[in-house]
Amino acid sequence: MTYRQLYGQIKSRLGEDAGAYCRYLLDRSLPELLIDDNKVPEDVLEEHNKAIGRVEAGEPLQYVFGHAPFYDLEIDCGPGVLIPRFDTEALVEEAIKTLPQDAVFADICCGSGCIAAAVLNGRKDTRAVCADISDTALYYTGKNLEKYGLTDRAKIMKFDVFGSWADFPKVDCILCNPPYITASEMKELPENVKKEPYEALYGGEDGLDFYRRIMQASKDHFKGASHIIFEIGYRQADALRQLTGGKCEIKKDLSDNDRVCIIRGFL
Ligand SMILES: C[S@@+](CC[C@H](N)C(=O)[O-])C[C@H]1O[C@@H](n2cnc3c(N)ncnc32)[C@H](O)[C@@H]1O
Repeated sequence: MTYRQLYGQIKSRLGEDAGAYCRYLLDRSLPELLIDDNKVPEDVLEEHNKAIGRVEAGEPLQYVFGHAPFYDLEIDCGPGVLIPRFDTEALVEEAIKTLPQDAVFADICCGSGCIAAAVLNGRKDTRAVCADISDTALYYTGKNLEKYGLTDRAKIMKFDVFGSWADFPKVDCILCNPPYITASEMKELPENVKKEPYEALYGGEDGLDFYRRIMQASKDHFKGASHIIFEIGYRQADALRQLTGGKCEIKKDLSDNDRVCIIRGFL
């Protein structure tokens, strides 16, 4: 089979999603494939035959192919861990620009470890504590830190945000993209997002449970001296201003949505 024929086959099965699928499978763009009459190697066809049924059944491409682009990295991911989102790069950008020299930061709710990996990679002077309640998340965090040679500068720990913080190491800054979807939003999630872990998405009735808990714990555990950089939902800026008594700064992502909440100093 030629590349052109393969593309025709993919297009007839996946419709509009064919372009994205081809980029994952072949790392090539559509215009190139449409004029390519070279034969597709057997191993590529084999991978395609394994993947296409899963994609047709609605599984996200990132799970099927096992990775997702994030910041300047390619993050490994799979079923059971949140797929890294482009939106989250705004938090990474802010952390890379503003973390103090030699900072130790926590990546709480680390998921695939995408935030910690991108920040450690962008700021060679920093170290990280990566924490999550999910074993699958911690597995991927370890894998991604190792992939980029960052393991030596990170500690990975199983941790429940709503449990005790007594053993949580002292850090200079908390980075966190918590679950923040509200109960009513959870009912309207697109089908592909429903394939991602419920506990990575649901943030309590009003979506704010993790923000409240982490701010309170930071106040108690770090004696109120807080430097927290949260990712927030695009409709949550006012709620965060209220929760912090106005002591936060909100920044936008590249799509001009409110996306990052920065808390500095004493809460
Ligand atoms: C929105 S995801 C963020 C993942 C990753 N940081 C990212 O940006 O892609 C939230 C993460 O919170 C974790 N989580 C959920 N409940 C938790 C809890 N009680 N304590 C610690 N982590 C929790 C989930 O396992 C999930 O990995």
